[in-house]
Order: sequence, then C-alpha cells, then structure tokens
Amino acid sequence: MAVYASANTPVGIAAIRDLGSEDLDAILDFWYTSGDDFLDFLGIDRSRLGTAEDTRQRFSRAIWKGDPNQQNIAFAITLDDDFAGYTLLNRYTPETNYSHWHITNPLVRAAGLSTALYPHRMKTYFDLVPIERLIHQTRTRNVAVNRMLDKYVPIAETRYVEDPDGVALPGEFHLRYVRRKDIPRFFR
Ligand SMILES: CC(C)(COP(=O)(O)OP(=O)(O)OC[C@H]1O[C@@H](n2cnc3c(N)ncnc32)[C@H](O)[C@@H]1OP(=O)(O)O)[C@@H](O)C(=O)NCCC(=O)NCCS
Repeated sequence: MAVYASANTPVGIAAIRDLGSEDLDAILDFWYTSGDDFLDFLGIDRSRLGTAEDTRQRFSRAIWKGDPNQQNIAFAITLDDDFAGYTLLNRYTPETNYSHWHITNPLVRAAGLSTALYPHRMKTYFDLVPIERLIHQTRTRNVAVNRMLDKYVPIAETRYVEDPDGVALPGEFHLRYVRRKDIPRFFR
C-alpha cells in the first residue's frame, strides 16, 4: 500500500496513503453514526448518500487500482499510522475535478492535520493522474474548511450551486481553483 506523503503536525505524523478495504468501516461509521445535525451542517442529501451498502460500494470502487483513467480515487489520511480520515478525488475532464476531504475522527480535528497535509494532498492528486485543474467547492458556512483553504488558495467566486459535486445538497458555495503550476508555491 503506497504512502504518498507525510507531514509533521503538533499532534504527530500525518500521512496520505492508499485507501484499503480495511478502512471502509471507519468511513461508514463517519457517514452513518455522526448524527443528523452533523449531516445537516455539512448539507448532505440523504438520497445521494444512500444506504451504508451503497457507500461501501462507492468507496470500494474508489480504491486506487493503478489505472490512470480511474474516475474516483480515495486515499486514507492517517495520524501516527491510525486512520484519521479520507479524501476522495472525483474526475470528469482535465479541467473539471473535485475533491472531498474529511477528518472522520472528531478527536483529531482542529489539530493542524489538514493544514499540514494540504500541499501534499494537491501534489498527490496531480502526480497520480493527468488532471490540469482542481475545483474546491466548499459550503460558505463551514468555517473550518474555509479557514484551512484560505491559507493557500483565495476564493475565486461565491455563488449558489444547484448541483454540487458528491452527496451535497444545493446551496451557497465558495469556489477556488488550483492548477498544476500552483503546487510548488504551496510548499514555500
Ligand atoms: C473541516 C476540516 C476538514 C478541517 O480540517 P482540520 O484538520 O480540522 O483543520 P486544521 O486543524 O488544519 O485547521 C484549519 C483552520 O480551521 C480552524 N478550525 C478548525 N476547526 C474549526 C472549527 N470547528 N471552527 C472554527 N475554526 C476551526 C483552525 O483553527 C485553523 O485555522 P487557524 O490556523 O486560522 O486557527 C475537518 O475539521 C473536518 O473534516 N471536519 C468535518 C467534516 C468537514 O467539515 N469536511 C469538509 C467538508 S467541505
């Protein structure tokens, strides 16, 4: 199982590695035991989320198979080798690609993992597959994710999105764009 990157954080060593089938239960716990208030805050469309079995199938399909044409690719986020969350890259065209990022273990949120891994996260996506642009589509009310992104990529647009990527309901989103040439800057 490939480890793509690691970074020091105040609470340990965070890393990005391939997702494995042994990680799927933690992802299902996140989606099906976090509670309605949490899913409402994220703005999740329950019909798009589907059943736990639907989600298991979606993430099984997203385990990296080494095919450069694979459309959905999931990676595990770890802290000192323990599963802490996941990220999912959804590819459509070279210019239209979205990623999702969740620290699924609430005990290690706001500890600096996402900030420390952000440059590595971008490098991992762009190194692995031939994408040219990544779009960050984040709900405006989610202060934490927006503060994390503000450190690296400015908001390009804020607008109502009727059909957001993934399992989200329509709503007000910030949009930010990352291109391949931006990546070296994130490491400086
Ligand atoms: C949102 C999320 C990705 C942020 O990742 P993280 O690893 O917790 O973030 P970091 O520790 O790197 O912190 C990033 C910034 O957000 C701030 N922050 C973190 N959690 C916060 C919270 N609950 N409320 C307000 N600010 C918060 C941090 O203080 C930091 O800003 P600062 O350096 O200016 O103080 C993560 O908390 C998470 O997965 N939450 C649940 C699911 C979710 O919201 N996913 C994103 C959907 S788009």
